[in-house]
Amino acid sequence: MSTYILMKILESAPSRYDKGIRVLTLGRLDKVYDRLASHIKGGQRVLDLGCGTGALTIRAAQKGAKVKGIDINPQMLEIAQKRAAEANLSQNVEFCEMGVAELGGEESESYDIVMSGLCFSELTEDELRYTLREAKRILKPGGLLLIADEVRPKSISKTILNWLLRFPLVTITYLITQTTTKAVRNLPEKVEEAGLAIESMRLSKIGNFIEVAGRRPKGRAK
Ligand SMILES: C[S@@+](CC[C@H](N)C(=O)[O-])C[C@H]1O[C@@H](n2cnc3c(N)ncnc32)[C@H](O)[C@@H]1O
Repeated sequence: MSTYILMKILESAPSRYDKGIRVLTLGRLDKVYDRLASHIKGGQRVLDLGCGTGALTIRAAQKGAKVKGIDINPQMLEIAQKRAAEANLSQNVEFCEMGVAELGGEESESYDIVMSGLCFSELTEDELRYTLREAKRILKPGGLLLIADEVRPKSISKTILNWLLRFPLVTITYLITQTTTKAVRNLPEKVEEAGLAIESMRLSKIGNFIEVAGRRPKGRAK
């Protein structure tokens, strides 16, 4: 799944993002997002962090959820808006040009689900920890945080294999876009540190891609 760093190239050409990511991941991302969306039920309030062109947002809206997608890239949002309109889902979705750093403006305990696909690996360490804390605050007690993203493998052999796979891709991506992604270190531990209980976790064979669900405990925040 190290091809995900090439998504940075695709992000610099949002109109090609959807097709490109599907080719790069051989359709695997669709399955990952279908699994993530299987946690969502009709009528729930859902927030999609770094929604991009709306892959997860639209899946959630198709389940009958009321979804807000936020992203800092207006071109990605424009495509997301168009896709939602084409799927007749505009009444169930709201897209906002907004960064995770602005989550402080969201009401506490207002979402059933906070989700994110491939956005945490684009955040700084401080942003990531802040986002996890904010996700817990804005989730209703018992609400779910769903993340699918690139992570750093834990074993040395997998780390070396991953590094060998990533290095050429990181270099190409950096040369073209002057940015890169940072596979997240210890994501499940960070989710737990933010006060959420890991409910399920699925790691790729090389250990470089994770799907994780963390639940906010039912008791009220102190
Ligand atoms: C690789 S794309 C994934 C988009 C979408 N979630 C998907 O899976 O198709 C990562 C997205 O995160 C957005 N992003 C990066 N940093 C962000 C931030 N600080 N706040 C909100 N969105 C951010 C980017 O603009 C981009 O659209």
